[in-house]
Amino acid sequence: MDVTPKPAHDFPEALKRSRGALAIMFLSVVGVVLFLYYFYASSAADIGPEQPIPFSHQVHAGVKNIQCQFCHPYVDRSTFPGIPPVEKCLYCHKYIIVKYPWIQKEHQYFNTNTPTPWRKVNYVPEHVFFNHQRHIRKEIACEECHGQVQHADRLKEHRFFMGFCIECHDKKKANVDCWLACHN
Ligand code: HEC
Ligand code: HEC
Ligand code: HEC
Ligand code: HEC
Repeated sequence: MDVTPKPAHDFPEALKRSRGALAIMFLSVVGVVLFLYYFYASSAADIGPEQPIPFSHQVHAGVKNIQCQFCHPYVDRSTFPGIPPVEKCLYCHKYIIVKYPWIQKEHQYFNTNTPTPWRKVNYVPEHVFFNHQRHIRKEIACEECHGQVQHADRLKEHRFFMGFCIECHDKKKANVDCWLACHN
């Protein structure tokens, strides 16, 4: 009679099978996570970063036709166009839709002396010097560089590259040698 113990086929077999099942489960979880991440990342890139208050240019600059420079007053005078401080919002919102939760949040920023933590969306490469002043004085419309901001609820992230600058400088016969001057 054979007394050597039977190799326990059943056990490794079951283990192998369950390992296979585990691997499949693991891979599908990874797949779903990757899919969601991709979906989230691409949709965030499409509509732009979430802002602390869902401020809409479409409502303000579009429908209500408030002039860009009412809120970005330094654009033709200084290196920084300026993002409006909360006081400027309250100039209207002390009276308009005061009870609206986001407007309440504005009041909270104001009362606690906290600057609204707006997220910046436009970037130039670090070594490039850009100044609005010269451009606005030449009456280049905001739209030529920023697109139809007045039709956007949320502004998208945008990186300006040198090609964009040079193309227009070429066309408008502006200084292209300036690349020496722009790069510091
Ligand atoms: C010159 C007046 C004015 C200024 C300044 C102003 N708003 Fe408004 N805002 C309005 C009007 C008008 C509405 C539309 C109200 C309505 O729908 O009844 C509005 C609507 C809103 C809404 C409602 C949501 C929406 O998009 O419909 C939010 C939030 C808002 N404003 C935030 C702001 C913030 C933040 C600022 C400052 C950066 C600001 N507003 C500055 C006039 C102004
Ligand atoms: C009622 C005030 C208001 C008006 C009017 C307004 N803006 Fe703004 N703008 C803001 C606020 C608040 C932000 C910051 C939040 C955001 O990015 O949406 C902003 C952000 C921007 C930015 C992005 C800044 C960055 O982060 O790089 C651009 C570009 C801009 N505005 C252009 C315009 C132009 C062009 C117009 C006119 C068509 C305009 N704005 C009218 C309030 C205003
Ligand atoms: C010739 C192209 C050009 C034109 C025209 C232009 N912009 Fe800009 N704007 C830029 C660039 C490039 C940046 C990013 C600059 C940076 O990050 O230093 C910018 C950034 C901004 C910002 C954000 C500034 C900050 O502090 O983060 C605002 C607000 C803005 N522009 C408003 C306007 C308004 C309003 C007009 C029209 C009156 C306008 N721009 C016209 C190219 C332009
Ligand atoms: C839509 C057209 C347009 C775009 C886009 C544009 N520019 Fe200009 N830029 C001009 C014009 C026109 C002038 C000449 C203004 C003048 O003569 O005063 C100018 C002038 C300048 C000057 C001053 C040059 C000098 O003579 O000293 C600098 C610096 C500059 N631009 C940088 C940039 C940068 C950086 C970008 C890209 C982020 C850019 N510009 C995008 C049209 C444009």
